Amino acid sequence: MILLTGLSTATGRRVAKRLLKSGHSFTALLRDGDKAPDLKSKKVTLVKGDLSKPDSIKKAMDGIENAFLLPPTSENQFKLEKNFIDAAKEAGVKHLVKYSVLGADPDSPSTILKYHGQSEKYLKDSGLRYTLIRPNLFMQNFVNFYGQQIRKKKEIRLPLKNAKCGYVDVRDTVRLINKVLTSNGSKNKIYTITGPESLSCLEITELFSEAMGKKINYVEIKPKEFKKKMIEAGVKERVAEAYSELYKLVRDGLYDQVTDDIYKLTDRQPHTFEEFLDDNIKFFLKR
Ligand SMILES: NC(=O)c1ccc[n+]([C@@H]2O[C@H](COP(=O)([O-])OP(=O)(O)OC[C@H]3O[C@@H](n4cnc5c(N)ncnc54)[C@H](OP(=O)(O)O)[C@@H]3O)[C@@H](O)[C@H]2O)c1
Repeated sequence: MILLTGLSTATGRRVAKRLLKSGHSFTALLRDGDKAPDLKSKKVTLVKGDLSKPDSIKKAMDGIENAFLLPPTSENQFKLEKNFIDAAKEAGVKHLVKYSVLGADPDSPSTILKYHGQSEKYLKDSGLRYTLIRPNLFMQNFVNFYGQQIRKKKEIRLPLKNAKCGYVDVRDTVRLINKVLTSNGSKNKIYTITGPESLSCLEITELFSEAMGKKINYVEIKPKEFKKKMIEAGVKERVAEAYSELYKLVRDGLYDQVTDDIYKLTDRQPHTFEEFLDDNIKFFLKR
């Protein structure tokens, strides 16, 4: 049996849908069952649970072989992940798949990279069989974080100068997660997953201009303005601050990385940025 977390995120929802489509049963750990109306299926066991409450996690671990940990971006992320890893170990889970991030490092100046790095280390030291999935930044951030400025202002305002980044489509990360959760072949592996090309913001605005048939401009901004824009777009202040810190490292070139892990593991090339745009063009053209 598989256990899923993070079901209200774009990644978690898609992992669940794909598992159902391929006939797999799973347990879903959720704080609020109402957030997942599409999980009402005989193949899904819904367990009300909270990563900050160890007893509630233990209940969800009953009979689990493969557990998927998708941690939230929060100041107590390491504590929440530690609770999950401890519960998995106690319950005799065979394999824990952790969603992490490219550049995860317990000594990083970025809190996002630091918390993921601390949790990775804790998991490795736990003795559990593990898989670490480290994605580059998501193409979907251009919908969730910068979508409104692209639609309304015809511009992308970021503090990234001409740094390149191997953006990955969440749909490809989901294919890889499902493969790892259902094939049982992965043992203590780390997958660094990226799209097929590394692109600067200027190159991205050119792709947007072509796809949308109107000029989209890149505007270089200071990290302070970036944080403010994220908050205006509905992102919580501490999350906006964490992304602002992370983007300093992106600007220094940390995310200028392309790997072929998605192809090697799933036998399919990851989506290009152009394909991502074609598939989301209705959203960007909506007034
Ligand atoms: N955005 C990117 O470009 C990018 C790139 C690489 C990696 N990542 C990683 O991807 C992950 C997901 O990011 P995100 O921004 O989509 O996540 P997020 O908005 O922080 O949400 C995480 C999930 O965790 C759940 N959650 C929060 N607190 C919980 C608790 N105490 N107990 C149980 N569940 C809890 C949330 O469910 P509720 O509905 O209950 O709140 C939600 O489903 C993060 O670890 C991030 O570092 C992101």
